[in-house]
Amino acid sequence: MPDPNRIAVMEATRAHFVERFAAEPRSLAIAPARVNLIGEHTDYSDGFVLPAALPLYTCVAVAPAAGPETVLVSTRFGEQRLAAAALHSASGFGRYLAGAIGESSREDTALSILVHGDMPVEAGLSSSASLLVAALAALRRMTTETTLLEQPGHALRLELALAARRVENDHIGVPCGFMDQFAVACAVEGQAMLLDCLDNQHTAVPTALPGHSWVVIYSGIRRELAASDYGARVEAVKTALARMAAADLDGPHILRTHNPAQVELLARSAGVASSHLPLLNHVAADNARVHLMRYALERGAAPMAATILRLGHNSLSRQFGVSLPVIDEFFEAGYKLDGVRGLRLTGAGMGGSLVALVANDNLDELMGRLETVARRIMSPDAAVFGVAGFVAGVSWR
Ligand code: GLA
Repeated sequence: MPDPNRIAVMEATRAHFVERFAAEPRSLAIAPARVNLIGEHTDYSDGFVLPAALPLYTCVAVAPAAGPETVLVSTRFGEQRLAAAALHSASGFGRYLAGAIGESSREDTALSILVHGDMPVEAGLSSSASLLVAALAALRRMTTETTLLEQPGHALRLELALAARRVENDHIGVPCGFMDQFAVACAVEGQAMLLDCLDNQHTAVPTALPGHSWVVIYSGIRRELAASDYGARVEAVKTALARMAAADLDGPHILRTHNPAQVELLARSAGVASSHLPLLNHVAADNARVHLMRYALERGAAPMAATILRLGHNSLSRQFGVSLPVIDEFFEAGYKLDGVRGLRLTGAGMGGSLVALVANDNLDELMGRLETVARRIMSPDAAVFGVAGFVAGVSWR
C-alpha cells in the first residue's frame, strides 16, 4: 500500500511544477529519507549496515525546458537559471542536480527541474541521497519507454543508487559509503535492509517488535556532511586498514571477521596510531551488532534490540567520537522517560538525528515528552517523528 504522504508530496510537487512552468512535468520521481538502525561508519570499510526508509520525501519533477536555459527550482531554497554549458556553476541544491544531470549525460539539453519535499535537510536522514536518487530516477524516467504504472525493478534501483554514490563521491566530494543511496533507492516496505557493503548483497529484515514502535528524533542541530569531520574519520579508518594490510594482517576484511580485542592486538602490532584504535574498535563492534540486531528483529526480541541500540550509541560516542555533549545529555535524559527502551544517535553524527525504540503505551504522550526534552537540551528546532511504518525506496510516475 503506497504511503498516503508519498502520494501527497508527489501531487504537491506536480502542482508546484505546473504553477512555475505552466506545463506538466514529463516525469516525477520520489525518494524517501533513511534511518540507520545499527552499523554506523561501517559502510566505507566494507562492513554491514541496517538502514530502513522513512515516510519523509524528496520529489523531483523534470521536463525539457521551453527556453535555452536550464532552470532549477527548489520550493525551499529558491531558483537558479543556468546556460547548459554553465551547469558546473550551480550551487547548494543545484550542485546535486547538476551532478545528476552530468551523471545522466543530459548536459546538452536545457531542462526545467523542480524539487519539493517534506524532510528536514542536513538532519542526518540522508536528504542528499534522497535528492540525488530522485533526480537520477526522474531523469531516467523521462527517457525510458515504460508503461505508466511500471515501477523501477531492483536492478535499476541498484543502478540509480550506484550512480547517486558516484555523484556524491566524485562531483560533491563527500567520500561516503553506500548505505544512504542504497537505502533510499532499494528499501523494501516494512523492512530494514541488511546490506553487506563488500559485495552489495542484501537481505530484508522485519522491523516490527510486538508492543513497540520506532521513533526518529531530529536533534535540531544541522550538519552538512561535506563540511563536517566525516572525511577525516573516513581517512583515519582507511589509513589504519592500509597499515594493517601492509603488515600483511588481513587488512581489508579484518573489521568484519575479528572481534574488537583481536583487532586492537593486530592493529598495535602493525603500528597503527593509538588515536585510531578506538575507531577500529567501534567499527568491528558495530559490524557484529548488525548481525545481533537482525537476530533480535527476526525473533521479535525487543529487550535485545534495545540493548544493542544503547551499546551502539555508547560506542559511537565514546569510541568513534561523533556525538556531541548535548546529544549525550539528551541520550541520558531520554532513557529516564518511562517507555523509552532503546535510543541511539543514527547516521554520521556530529548533530543530525537519533532513533528510538519505545513502548506503545501512551505513545503520543511519550513522543510529546521526548520532543520537550529534545528541545530543552539539544535545540529549539528539535522534532520527533513517529514511524507508522518503514516505506519502500524510490518510485516514479
Ligand atoms: C553518512 C554517510 C554513510 C555512512 C554514515 C555513517 O550517512 O553518507 O555512507 O558512512 O554517514 O554510518
